[in-house]
Amino acid sequence: MNPPPRYPLVTFIFLVILTTHFGSVTSQSDDAYICLNNGNYTRESSYRADLNSLLRSLSSNVGNSGFYNTSVGQVNAIVLCRGDIQLHQCRSCIDHVTDDMLQLCPNQMQAIRWSELCMLRYSDEFIFGNMSTSPAVMRWNDQNNVTSDVDGYKRVRRKLMGDLFRKAANGSAMQKVAADMAPFGYNKIFALVQCTPDLSAVDCYYCLASAINAYGRDNTRAGLTIYTPSCYLRYESAPFYNKTRLLEPVEPVEPPSSGKNDDNTTRNLDDNTTRNLIIIVIATVMGLILALCVGIFTIRRLKRKTKGNPDRKIGKWSRNSSQKIIQKFRSR
Ligand SMILES: *[C@@H]1O[C@H](CO)[C@@H](O)[C@H](O)[C@H]1NC(C)=O
Ligand SMILES: *[C@@H]1O[C@H](CO)[C@@H](O)[C@H](O)[C@H]1NC(C)=O
Ligand SMILES: *[C@@H]1O[C@H](CO)[C@@H](O)[C@H](O)[C@H]1NC(C)=O
Ligand SMILES: *[C@@H]1O[C@H](CO)[C@@H](O)[C@H](O)[C@H]1NC(C)=O
Ligand SMILES: *[C@@H]1O[C@H](CO)[C@@H](O)[C@H](O)[C@H]1NC(C)=O
Ligand SMILES: *[C@@H]1O[C@H](CO)[C@@H](O)[C@H](O)[C@H]1NC(C)=O
Ligand SMILES: *[C@@H]1O[C@H](CO)[C@@H](O)[C@H](O)[C@H]1NC(C)=O
Repeated sequence: MNPPPRYPLVTFIFLVILTTHFGSVTSQSDDAYICLNNGNYTRESSYRADLNSLLRSLSSNVGNSGFYNTSVGQVNAIVLCRGDIQLHQCRSCIDHVTDDMLQLCPNQMQAIRWSELCMLRYSDEFIFGNMSTSPAVMRWNDQNNVTSDVDGYKRVRRKLMGDLFRKAANGSAMQKVAADMAPFGYNKIFALVQCTPDLSAVDCYYCLASAINAYGRDNTRAGLTIYTPSCYLRYESAPFYNKTRLLEPVEPVEPPSSGKNDDNTTRNLDDNTTRNLIIIVIATVMGLILALCVGIFTIRRLKRKTKGNPDRKIGKWSRNSSQKIIQKFRSR
């Protein structure tokens, strides 16, 4: 009923999906960060010194693609800016997420931080090209729900997402991002999806598909954002991304030898990759059908049991169950 707000991020509710070993999650108005419980360093260690100098180097080193990865000593780090923002916005976002990171995670070797326009991830483990879908953070916009023709809405959204996932996965080694709008009745769905471009096409697709399947499939809020360590997905009922910027070619760090249009050199998928992609899609669909059958079967059984045992709550059980499916996605 209300027109969509110009900037629909004003109200956010956070749902943080975690299991205990991930460590503490905190979110400020627009940020979420996780200090992982995978090892601590001491104040005097070289790890801290290396991490400190690495964090300071990131914003000046990031280029037009918005992606940068580097290592200092034992520390590996990745930064990724949303693909539609300007370089100066990207750099100031990275300044923002790196600035107080050592206060936020004072001795953890691994951490992830997401802001609206960029992401930072560092680890003592090798994280380059290493797809990860957890921990994940989901935020939604509570000002606008889809209330009529929910099935139609989900169908349009599924189609849009599938198209964008394929397009992003088919991106280059410098940038894997895609955005588009799909009309839905009198409304529209605007969406942007992105992977860290160090991922393979298959891993990029898998990351995005498992994020929406695990966290967003049944959601009927008109605005949703999912952050994982390797990919990002957002849709809203109002435009939020800069389409013009996305159409600009990404200049490589080394100037390109042949001028402006590098589309065909950077966006090719070889046949093998396409085949793998299709196999993954089929496997995912079959997995979902199987999960659905198991789910229906278990609910039926549980309902039967509940009759004899009024204390048992289906609600509680379902929550645990969806947690399990999330674990399955994680364990790849
Ligand atoms: C690491 O440090 C945090 C506090 O900063 C503490 O809660 C955690 O237990 C420590 N982990 C290990 C493995 O020592
Ligand atoms: C960035 O990641 C790639 C793998 O995607 C790796 O080959 C390269 O060495 C990394 N760059 C740095 C500076 O570590
Ligand atoms: C990828 O990351 C996981 C932890 O997230 C780590 O156990 C694994 O060794 C990494 N893979 C490579 C090739 O380093
Ligand atoms: C949207 O739905 C959620 C729960 O499903 C509810 O909490 C929220 O108030 C709804 N928002 C509007 C604008 O109706
Ligand atoms: C969108 O991107 C274009 C091209 O980079 C830029 O000129 C324009 O200022 C951007 N618009 C906004 C609102 O940032
Ligand atoms: C890209 O396009 C140009 C001209 O259209 C062509 O010469 C070149 O071979 C193409 N590169 C690839 C990798 O397809
Ligand atoms: C990948 O990108 C290339 C060049 O833009 C295009 O020709 C090809 O059809 C795309 N493949 C898919 C599966 O979208």
